[in-house]
Amino acid sequence: MVMRVKKNINGLSGCIEIPADKSISHRAIMFSAIAHGKSVIKNFSSGEDPKSTLKLFKELGVDIKYTDEKTVEVNSSGKLNSTSQPLYCGNSGTTMRLVSGILAGQNFNTILTGDESLSKRPMKRIITPLTQMGANIESDNFHAPLKIFGNKLHGIEYASQIASAQVKSSVILATLNADGKTKYTEPYLSRNHTELMLKYMGADIQTSENTVIINPSEIEGKEFRVCGDISSAAYFIAAGLIVPNSDIILKNVGLNPTRTGIIKVIENMGGNIEILSKNNISGEIVGDIRIKSSNLKGTTVSGELIPQLIDEIPIIAVLATQADGQTIIKDAQDLRNKESDRISSTARELKKLGADISETEDGFIINGKTKLSGDVEVETYNDHRLAMSLYVAGLVCEKEIAINGFEWANISFPEFLELFSKLNR
Ligand code: S3P
Repeated sequence: MVMRVKKNINGLSGCIEIPADKSISHRAIMFSAIAHGKSVIKNFSSGEDPKSTLKLFKELGVDIKYTDEKTVEVNSSGKLNSTSQPLYCGNSGTTMRLVSGILAGQNFNTILTGDESLSKRPMKRIITPLTQMGANIESDNFHAPLKIFGNKLHGIEYASQIASAQVKSSVILATLNADGKTKYTEPYLSRNHTELMLKYMGADIQTSENTVIINPSEIEGKEFRVCGDISSAAYFIAAGLIVPNSDIILKNVGLNPTRTGIIKVIENMGGNIEILSKNNISGEIVGDIRIKSSNLKGTTVSGELIPQLIDEIPIIAVLATQADGQTIIKDAQDLRNKESDRISSTARELKKLGADISETEDGFIINGKTKLSGDVEVETYNDHRLAMSLYVAGLVCEKEIAINGFEWANISFPEFLELFSKLNR
């Protein structure tokens, strides 16, 4: 689908509710599927990725049903059934990596497959620790399809080289059904939804700074209300800052401190962003955010901040093109392993729009503020985050742009266009 985007000359205004968090939606299905008893997941995401997880656990014999458009009920004995069919994870790295941790310790074999993009993404990062735990996983040179031969696993001590919530969660999930505890350390703290949710479900899990200690545990079904996704909110936050004459309110945004790096960056850039309220919903901090058009200045984004905003880097790059001075983003080499190589895809497409952006091995150097010219076709590389970042860039381009493959936005955010249209004056 080609999406044409025109400059927004009137500004954005109004108040919208941000749809459900993708990471939490995935986890709510997975954890309910291996828990004992009934779970109710309210405000489940309508993105394609969480739906891939839901479908996969149905194929593993779990009783999962929608009771209304956004509510999912899961009834489980805690046991999964074997299936001879390959399990398809679609575009979702979270599904493949976390589910591998669950399946490695079962008493049956499974095959996990994915789409073209997922089949190119690195799986060594989970195969290495899971193998140390006793898992038997065959892969295509550390890429999907993954053939998982169920085995009895044991706990390990593992110091990960990368700050990845997907790797951490995979090992934690494998330990639930293993012999002995696991101590897992990561270089910087990545998102901690797995730790919070499993604790809420009764798992024996302790955390301290960048270390998690988990003991094998049985977990119980619970009720979850999924908060709004700050990674989805990020596109509206960015648009509100760079489209002149804007003043918007975003409601129900998850503000877990392991995810709010984007807010820190915007504060460093001098952006007008205000947290209006904070509540605790199902163990997560949730709030409303007000954003007004701002004169931004360049900043440096690096180190422990990177895992707190890993999915927001393409949209931060768009913001940097509209900020005075230089923005440097570094220590983000893992961006090359996302749904696309986001360092080269973001740099290439923003350059087409007229941005002064250069790619480095682990990030970007962006000089601003540049007038984006537009009047070009840009590509999404089948990457939802690039599609939505380019849309926001299009709102400040002098001339219309055409985004090829915009339908990829549905991977995480099918409501994106409808919500933008609500903010038009
Ligand atoms: C996710 C973790 C992140 C993120 C992805 C979702 C998760 O990946 O990029 O979109 O739900 O755990 P890494 O932790 O591998 O960086």
